[in-house]
Amino acid sequence: AKSKLTKAERQAELEIVAAKVAKCKKCPELASTRTQTVFGVGNPRAKIMFIGEAPGADEDKQGEPFVGRAGKLLDKIIEACQMKRSDIYIANILRCRPPGNRNPSNEEADNCRGFLDAQIEIVDPDYIVCWGSVAAKNLLHSEMPIGKMRGQFYEYGRARVVCTYHPSYLLRNPSAKKNVWEDMIYLFEDMGIDLKA
Ligand code: URA
Repeated sequence: AKSKLTKAERQAELEIVAAKVAKCKKCPELASTRTQTVFGVGNPRAKIMFIGEAPGADEDKQGEPFVGRAGKLLDKIIEACQMKRSDIYIANILRCRPPGNRNPSNEEADNCRGFLDAQIEIVDPDYIVCWGSVAAKNLLHSEMPIGKMRGQFYEYGRARVVCTYHPSYLLRNPSAKKNVWEDMIYLFEDMGIDLKA
């Protein structure tokens, strides 16, 4: 566990991994179509880490996860939880944009897994939120639909993991926002924080 490292030490370790990611060519198609890699962003000592699917067009252009439409919605969720984006660490299953935003292949997810695991080990969060089925399926090696994975904690190393709907899904199905809010209440309750108060 990295739990004794200072914030600055964690930041330095993350930068070493990010430099490897920037040069990665393990997935030839992604390496040739990306504008840049999208490593991760946020507090290197975050208590909560968010894991999404993969960069989209906006993220590929800006080099930061969740900066497009889904990201704006994610920001609102973060705000509703009385947090700031900079409190959290945000990463994805993939660090490159799949062409046309197709789903990551299993091979691509496997190729990128060492980077994700390094980020988790360095940040060493107490909680991980998997946003959407691609994140949940790949992190936890589960085949269950996301609706069935909600409402309980899973373990990943030292972290307690919750799974919920992807913000892009919420853009298409706004009625599911109440479910995500329930999931946030569930997560924060475990930390001793009552979001309804
Ligand atoms: N969707 C994701 O899953 N991740 C991003 O970084 C942006 C959109």
